Amino acid sequence: MSTELLTEIDHVAIAVNDLDAAVAWYKEVFGATVEHREVVESDGVEEALLKVAESYIQLLTPTTGSSPVAKYLANKGEGLHHIGYRVADCAVALQAVKDSGGRVIDEVPRPGSRGTTVAFVHPKTSFGTLIELVQE
Ligand code: CO
Repeated sequence: MSTELLTEIDHVAIAVNDLDAAVAWYKEVFGATVEHREVVESDGVEEALLKVAESYIQLLTPTTGSSPVAKYLANKGEGLHHIGYRVADCAVALQAVKDSGGRVIDEVPRPGSRGTTVAFVHPKTSFGTLIELVQE
């Protein structure tokens, strides 16, 4: 299949221990400001989105100890957590991953932050990168 399914880098997600400190650092150093901030209960995270052109830096911190991001921070420390690729149709892109034999975390698209529809692809079959497919 050669149709291009990825339309933009939606966001680069960075796991941090202290969301306020990370937001303040991006503001002080780069003048970046928060466009959207949201607690995503289903994922056990709070995120702050800093807009960069048509994409975002997504600063991410856990709100519960059982959050996957809490486990990530405990195991690997702060740093790059996942890449969000913008797609026109999340279900189509997710199916393309499955058709290629790829392992997915979300079997079907689900609600993401700021009203998006998302699905996560397991890093095991995507060269070590946790991928989030994001449909606006
Ligand atoms: Co994300």
